[in-house]
Amino acid sequence: MADGQIAGDVSALAFSAEIRAKTDHLYPRVAKFIPEGEWRLYAPVIAAINDLKKQRDAVILAHNYMTPEIFHCVGDFMGDSLGLAKKAAATDAKVIVQAGVHFMAETSKILCPEKTVLIPDLKAGCSLAASITGADVRLLKQKYPGAPVVTYVNTTADVKAETDVCCTSSNAVEIVEWAAKEWGSDIVLFLPDQYLARNVAAMTDVKIVTWAGSCEVHERFTADDIREIRAGNPGVVVLAHPECPPEVIAEADFTGSTSGMNHFVKTKQPKNVVLITECSMSDNVAAENPDVSFVRPCNLCPHMKRISLPKILRSLQTMQHEVTIDPEILARARLPIERMLALPLKRQSMYDRQRAPEVLAVEGRA
Ligand code: 13P
Ligand code: SF4
Repeated sequence: MADGQIAGDVSALAFSAEIRAKTDHLYPRVAKFIPEGEWRLYAPVIAAINDLKKQRDAVILAHNYMTPEIFHCVGDFMGDSLGLAKKAAATDAKVIVQAGVHFMAETSKILCPEKTVLIPDLKAGCSLAASITGADVRLLKQKYPGAPVVTYVNTTADVKAETDVCCTSSNAVEIVEWAAKEWGSDIVLFLPDQYLARNVAAMTDVKIVTWAGSCEVHERFTADDIREIRAGNPGVVVLAHPECPPEVIAEADFTGSTSGMNHFVKTKQPKNVVLITECSMSDNVAAENPDVSFVRPCNLCPHMKRISLPKILRSLQTMQHEVTIDPEILARARLPIERMLALPLKRQSMYDRQRAPEVLAVEGRA
């Protein structure tokens, strides 16, 4: 188990016949990645989490970037940011444990203010969410009066409170076009991911002003990486996340959100595939697609990787760390998320470049 995660109060948990009975049905889901000897360390923690979930009336929302033992063995709902937000809005459970990063937990809290929302590690942040503040957005609104503000859900509640409508990578193109029409503006402020902004700009006539934010995981991929992968793996199908720079997207066969990539693999069953995104994604998709082989260059998200089984268990034991948001900010941040969720979008955004990926301006702090 990585980084000495079985420590403190979980070290007393031992593998036993009872634990085996509770967890044996889960092992086949992760057997490809976890050797049997190691499973004996994971299984007691998994059993304890699943028992405690019932006692606490809790659900675990697990993002696609969670490690396989979290994703396949304790997650109740798994998916991309949009899917998890929808699940948060719909659940009857009293407690939500967010197996993901802080902005996702905030989104759950905004949608379910009456519920207890827990994040197992408060430091699980996101370079995009950290790149912009509510004050930055207020200045941009003064500079571009009348332009609707579309922000990626990878933002803090403060930023969402200044937003007209949120989006995720699975609906960004449609939301930008909807906002431009609804506000009668040919300019849209699309914040804070400059690469996602460019990839959206390649799909629409709307003029986009963006922000100098980026995902520290996806910005590291290069077009040369993709060419090398193709050279070493003839016939490989390349799927990329739209937080990658446009030159990477130009080299890919398909671009979509984490769930978009998952759906592509499930429905098309390519023989050999590479997912240009965070490392755990390939493990999670591979577990459900045994006939597909995966080339696995990837970049780790240090924030997502802060969430571990022992931390999830501790979170349920101690009911920490509870996510709280100032009620006035929460009320204002709710509207743009609800607007996004209410839009009847029929399909995932496509990023098969229709024009140059050019934005009107990339703003940033002076
Ligand atoms: P998705 O909306 O595609 O799940 O992406 C969230 C994220 O943080 C990707 O880096
Ligand atoms: Fe943020 Fe990138 Fe990590 Fe997603 S992968 S949480 S966008 S830093």
